Amino acid sequence: MQSLVEAMRYSMLGGGKRVRPTLCMEVAGVFGAEPGLVLPSAAAIELIHTYSLIHDDLPAMDDDDFRRGRPTAHKKYGEAMAILAGDAFFGEALTLITVHQKGSNEQVLEVVRELAGSTGVNGMVGGQVIDMDQTGRGGDADTETLRMIHTYKTGALIKSSARIGAVIAGAGEEEQAAVSEYAMELGLCFQIVDDVLNATSTREVLGKSAGSDAEQGKATFVGVYGLDGAKREADEAAGKAIRALETVEGDTSGLHDLVLFVRHRGH
Ligand code: IPE
Ligand code: IPE
Ligand code: MG
Ligand code: MG
Repeated sequence: MQSLVEAMRYSMLGGGKRVRPTLCMEVAGVFGAEPGLVLPSAAAIELIHTYSLIHDDLPAMDDDDFRRGRPTAHKKYGEAMAILAGDAFFGEALTLITVHQKGSNEQVLEVVRELAGSTGVNGMVGGQVIDMDQTGRGGDADTETLRMIHTYKTGALIKSSARIGAVIAGAGEEEQAAVSEYAMELGLCFQIVDDVLNATSTREVLGKSAGSDAEQGKATFVGVYGLDGAKREADEAAGKAIRALETVEGDTSGLHDLVLFVRHRGH
């Protein structure tokens, strides 16, 4: 058991930008909650995200050796332990929410429902499957498939992060819809920028391998739209995210800042 916890701590505490929990807490604040109120759910989201990274790096998937500035979990602890550490993160995430998240039963159930949806067949895992299907085909997927990959594999959990902050803060339907729209575009922008950085940055800066998308023939925005085209698409998604906030009352400056961070990180 000790080795499992060690592998989990290694992957979780090695770094990472914490974009999803920050988004969750920031959204809760916009709707008048104390951001700390959503900490159990925000932390749970980061556990699930970390699980997705550990599995994404496995030899059977992207076969990457570096993550968050250090050797990947399977390089350090072996494949079996990496798989199990990822699995355990999912269980621990549910424990965090169901045991520690304050709110009504309906609110907590909604958090679980949100995460179940955004990580399952029509969410992160489904997106990873389409990503895998498209790998090795030279990177020129049709634009609809490309958007689908990004929306599912990355956008879904980012959207959930925002929605969960809104749900626990007691935001109304319209406010939730506006924040969902914002986060969907933010998530798309996030993954487009990830594609751009994979093509333009270095392992030292990113803390994970660079250049690997082209080597593996991944379907990316850079592959389909070219570098400048991908940056334009990222700008467009960032603009849409910011416009989606127009109807939201309250201080959304933190959410604006998050768009700027996501769009311009790594440079
Ligand atoms: C990397 O996510 C995987 C993608 C969905 C693009 P992050 O860029 O948020 O990774 P960390 O958490 O900062 O390491
Ligand atoms: C990762 O996508 C998406 C998930 C982990 C769900 P990528 O494979 O494009 O991300 P990196 O570049 O390895 O972080
Ligand atoms: Mg991948
Ligand atoms: Mg990867």
